[in-house]
Amino acid sequence: MTTIAQRLMGVPVFSQIYEQLWRPVFTRGFSLGGSSTVDYDRALRAYLARTGDRMVLDVACGPGNYSDDASRGLVGDGQYVGIDFSASMLAQAHAANPGERVSYVRGDAHHLPFPDGTFDTVLCLAALYLIPDPLPVLDEMLRVAKPGGEIVVFTSVRASIAALPGAEAVAGVSGLRIFGRRELLEHLEALGAEHVEQTVTGVGQYIHARRPLAG
Ligand SMILES: C[S@@+](CC[C@H](N)C(=O)[O-])C[C@H]1O[C@@H](n2cnc3c(N)ncnc32)[C@H](O)[C@@H]1O
Repeated sequence: MTTIAQRLMGVPVFSQIYEQLWRPVFTRGFSLGGSSTVDYDRALRAYLARTGDRMVLDVACGPGNYSDDASRGLVGDGQYVGIDFSASMLAQAHAANPGERVSYVRGDAHHLPFPDGTFDTVLCLAALYLIPDPLPVLDEMLRVAKPGGEIVVFTSVRASIAALPGAEAVAGVSGLRIFGRRELLEHLEALGAEHVEQTVTGVGQYIHARRPLAG
């Protein structure tokens, strides 16, 4: 079943305002009045921009609002690939965020069209909470990561304050999912991911993990 939030992602005018208007407000909202999500996002962008010969995959890339940061430091054969299933988001990505080392592919996060062990960095930012069946997406992200490669996720988390009256109801109606505090960590650990780290910023969480060097 398609949720309200998913339908919104396919609306061309939403794709056009997403990067400049919606996402900044939404990011701030995750901090519940503070700035921790904005601060972490800024640090993440700087981290993604570090110099290196890396293959980067951005799962559910939307209009490609991380492509500039994630491709700026790439050298050698380094490439950034964004994948999304929304044609209007990808049209916006091509128009607003092109780049010499940037390409976009249309596809479903549940079936990433790449061989095992292709990418050094696999991102999935602000998207997992929209996907009705999100855990298999983590499986796919780990599968396409190289041994020793990293995965980075930003999504929702149930903070104690998210017991706020109505918060879960709003999430439920819109189709946004709020993950349990350890739900994604436990899934990644069960998949064999290593160095699984979580940073909680209000009702947002950042997860960093690595595919083991062997296996
Ligand atoms: C809120 S946007 C996030 C865009 C970007 N990653 C960011 O951080 O702002 C969520 C994106 O997930 C995409 N999406 C949702 N389900 C997907 C799926 N199963 N496969 C691929 N993309 C999906 C939507 O089309 C939308 O562009």
